[in-house]
Amino acid sequence: MAKRSDKEQPSLSLKGFNPHLAFAIGAAALGSSFQHGFNTGVVNSPATVIQPWIAELKMNRSDVPLNKESLEADVTVTWAIAVAIFCVGGMIGGALVGTAADRFGRKGSLLLNNIFVVAAVFFEALAKPLASYELIILGRFLIGINSGLNAGLSPMYLAEISPMHLRGAVGTVYQLIITISILVAQVLGMNKLMGTTELWPWLFSLTIVPAIVQLITLPFCPESPKYLLLSKGRDMDAQRALTWLRGTIEVHDEMEDMRSEYESIKLIPRVTLTELIMNSSLRIPLFISIMIMLAQQLSGINAIMFYSTNIFEMAQLDAEQAQNATIGVGVVNVLMTFISMILVEKAGRKTLLLIGFFGMFLDTSLLAVCLLFKSHAAASILAVVLVVLFIVLFATGPGSIPWFLVSELFNQSARPTATSVAIAINWGANFLVGIMFPPLAAAINSNVFFVFAVLQGLFTVFIWLKVPETKNKSIEEISSMFRQQSYQ
Ligand SMILES: *[C@@H]1O[C@H](CO)[C@@H](O)[C@H](O)[C@H]1NC(C)=O
Repeated sequence: MAKRSDKEQPSLSLKGFNPHLAFAIGAAALGSSFQHGFNTGVVNSPATVIQPWIAELKMNRSDVPLNKESLEADVTVTWAIAVAIFCVGGMIGGALVGTAADRFGRKGSLLLNNIFVVAAVFFEALAKPLASYELIILGRFLIGINSGLNAGLSPMYLAEISPMHLRGAVGTVYQLIITISILVAQVLGMNKLMGTTELWPWLFSLTIVPAIVQLITLPFCPESPKYLLLSKGRDMDAQRALTWLRGTIEVHDEMEDMRSEYESIKLIPRVTLTELIMNSSLRIPLFISIMIMLAQQLSGINAIMFYSTNIFEMAQLDAEQAQNATIGVGVVNVLMTFISMILVEKAGRKTLLLIGFFGMFLDTSLLAVCLLFKSHAAASILAVVLVVLFIVLFATGPGSIPWFLVSELFNQSARPTATSVAIAINWGANFLVGIMFPPLAAAINSNVFFVFAVLQGLFTVFIWLKVPETKNKSIEEISSMFRQQSYQ
C-alpha cells in the first residue's frame, strides 16, 4: 500500500519529512561526514607552515648537519605519508563497516566510532608540544579509520531511516556535508586564519567539535528500524523507532513492508564475502557498486581540486587570487550538491550519473586540450571555466550518489558486507589517485587529464549499460530485479 501511494506522489514529495527525521539526519550525518571532508581538506594550506616545522625537527634530531636537498626530499616524503595515510586508514575503516554495523548496530557503531576521533585529536594536538611529527601521522591514520567507517555507516543509517521517496535526497546529505566541511577546512586553513605556525595544532583539533555534537545528539535518535527488525527480529522496538522517525503512529504500511521483507530473508544469515562473489544475483550489484566507487574516485576529482590553484595561476591570477578562486570552487561544489539533493528524486540516480560522467568526459577532454595551449590567454581562461564546470558536473551526481547507491542495491542480509567492500575500494582508489597523480603529472604534465577523460568515457558507457534506476523502488523490488537478471 505504501508503494502505491508513493508512486502517486508528485516527483518530490516531502511526505514523511518531519522535525524528528531532520534531527536524526543531522545527528548522524554531521558528526560523521564532517570528519571525512574536513580531514580531506585540512592538510592543504597549512602544509607550507608544517613542512618547515618537520624540517626543523629532523635537523634537531640529527647529530650531523643535514644537507639541504636531502632534508627537503625527506620532509616531502614524510608529509606525503602524513597526507596519504588518511586513505589507508579509510580502507581499513571501510573493511570494518560490515562487522561493526552488524554487531553494534548502525547508531551504536556511529557512536563508538567517535573513540577514534578522540584518540586522533589527542595525538595530533600533542605532536607540537612533544616535538614529534610521528604523532601527526598516527593521528591521521586513526581519523582515517574513523572516516572509512563513517563513509559506510552513515549513508547506510540514512538510507535505512528515510521514507522510500526521500532515500536519495537524504543520502545526498552525506556528500553535502563533506563539501561543506572541505570548504570550512580550506577557509580556516588559509594562512591569514588558522594556517599559521602557532595555530595549526588547534586547526587539526577542531575536528573533535562535531564528534562531541554527535555524542550529545545521536543518543536521542532511535537505532535504524530496519536493523532492529530485519537483522535482530525485534518487531516492537522497530515499530517504536519507526513511529519516532515518522512523527506519527500511522506506520502500519511501512511496518508491513518490512515484515514481509523479514519473512523473505529470515532464514538467511548475514551474507559473507564468498557468497557475495559466488551468488550471481549478488555478484551483479556488487560489481556495479565497485565500479561506481572506482568511477567516483578515478574521475580525477581530487586531481582537479589539487591542480585547480595551478590552473588559476596560469590564467594570470596572483597567488592570493588563485587561493580565493580555489575557495570559490568549494562554494560551487556545495551549492551544486545542494541542488542535486532535489534533482536526485526527480531525475533519478542513473540520469544524474550519466549527465555527470558524460559531461566530465567532454569537459576533461577539452581541458586537456586547453592546457596544451596554456600560453594563450584565451585557452587559460577557458581552462578556468572548465575547472568550475567540472565541479558542477561532479556535484550533479557522481559526488553524492555512489555513497548511498550501495545501500539501495542490496537487501538487509547482504548490505553490510557489500558496503564494506565498496567503501574499502573507494578509499583505495582515493589513495591511488593521491599517490599516483603527482609523479604522473610530473612525467606527462597536463596530458594526465587525457587519462582521466578516457576513464570517464569508459565509466559513462558502463553506467549506461549496467546501472539500474533505483528511484522510488523498494529494496525488495530492486533485489528481485537482480535475481531475475541472474537467471537469464
Ligand atoms: C630545535 O631545537 C631548538 C634548540 O634546542 C629549539 O629552540 C627548537 O624549538 C627546536 N625545534 C623544534 C621544532 O622542536
